[in-house]
Amino acid sequence: MAEFIPVPPFDLVVFGATGDLSLRKLFPSLLHRYLDGQIPAQSRIIGAARSGLDTEAFRQMVHESRGKFAPGACVDEAKCAEFLNHVHYARVDATSPAGEWGALKDALADGNGNVRIFYLSTAPSLFVTIAQRLQETELATPNSRIVLEKPIGRDLASSREINDGVGRVFDEHRTFRIDHYLGKETVQNLLVLRFANMLIEPIWSRATIDHVQITVAEELGVEGRAEYYDKSGALRDMVQNHMLQLLCLVALESPNSMDADAIRTEKLKVLSALRRIDAKDAAAKTVRGQYKAGLIGGKPAPAYADEVGKPTKTETFVAIKAEVDNWRWAGVPFYLRTGKRIGARRSEIVIQFKDTPVPIFGAGAGAPNKLVLRLQPAEGVKLWLNMKEPGPGGLRVKTAALDLSFAEEFGGVRYPDAYERLLMDIVRGNLALFMRRDEVDAAWMWADALLAAWEQAGVEPNLYAAGSNGPTQSALLLDRDGRAWWDPE
Ligand code: BG6
Repeated sequence: MAEFIPVPPFDLVVFGATGDLSLRKLFPSLLHRYLDGQIPAQSRIIGAARSGLDTEAFRQMVHESRGKFAPGACVDEAKCAEFLNHVHYARVDATSPAGEWGALKDALADGNGNVRIFYLSTAPSLFVTIAQRLQETELATPNSRIVLEKPIGRDLASSREINDGVGRVFDEHRTFRIDHYLGKETVQNLLVLRFANMLIEPIWSRATIDHVQITVAEELGVEGRAEYYDKSGALRDMVQNHMLQLLCLVALESPNSMDADAIRTEKLKVLSALRRIDAKDAAAKTVRGQYKAGLIGGKPAPAYADEVGKPTKTETFVAIKAEVDNWRWAGVPFYLRTGKRIGARRSEIVIQFKDTPVPIFGAGAGAPNKLVLRLQPAEGVKLWLNMKEPGPGGLRVKTAALDLSFAEEFGGVRYPDAYERLLMDIVRGNLALFMRRDEVDAAWMWADALLAAWEQAGVEPNLYAAGSNGPTQSALLLDRDGRAWWDPE
């Protein structure tokens, strides 16, 4: 039986309800929470979009997308049908004047006691307009909350404009900026591993750690999002948010509590200590890549430029040697790498420890310790240690893993999608796993500096075949430092 903390009844309005994120992630996540009994009966979920649908047609759309994105979710068809009774539709053009928002007003009528949430799963260019309309229509009540999907802008200036505009209607403690990586199980487990075990924290510094690697490799390409993606690229799409958040959780000092601001303040300190990469270092410390045609799972995959339909210099891969200038991490590089159309989907964090100071078992015996946190697929933690190979015949050192595979250790527990956890945290009003405005600013400052450095130094993407491990220059980035990416077979 799944365990959960009850949440109060809520009205959740999803703007952009007919879009990919909404149908692929939000509704399936809500369905799972419903099936586990977490969503109170008085709750309503209102899809809001421009399409001329009615509630019945929208319910059908949600039902069909469930078959596609959450197959197997419904052992109990009656319960799934019951979930759809909570789903409604309101036709709203976000750019239309307040007088035309009647459908949403009607849908929200009689929900006085419910927690009210507006989830903006739309283009960021609509965020400020929607917030304004919610104010004009008085749908934004003093306790209602707003949720902003990434990307929040495309640079510091545009993200400030959005945060200022939305902030005029919703104050900071009612603004939930989603980075869904923070809702992933292993990512939260990183905090538990670090701060619930006495064993780990004393060795978590430059004294024992040689370097850190963070890899987020995707098999997928741009999947019909070429128009957005081509203006964005991997740095804005993955590094400015997800990768930097992962880096923060590895690097942060112990927060005083699990209180939202205690955690977010520590993350901000890491972001502020991230060394900017300027034009003179851009070529040595970063690699940009773009996929060309290749094979994914034995099937031909087109080149990125063909998917976009024109020659383009947008990066679909990036590798970076990042440095955190504080006492704990000085001299410990954080190598970040993310790419689309890589041979296999794999996200993991590798903490590579230093070698022993004296090789008393002979040079090259064993290998430096490694702690590998696997985010996806197959969540788990592995600690690579050196052991004596059993049996006679001399003293041979063998490297073996202490393997905590979550599926085996906690078998039978379904791993919730990151959005399930985050959606319920919003209803509860828990901001710990959401980005504070100053964090977003700091992350953009660093990313903007790198984008400017690329421009100034003329750093262009190197081509790599779809299905490969990224451009060869990525291996050279570590090779120059006498290191290598951890790429298990
Ligand atoms: C999104 C990016 O934020 O994260 C996508 O915009 C990317 O381009 C996705 O594919 C990856 O998320 P996950 O959870 O599948 O690793």
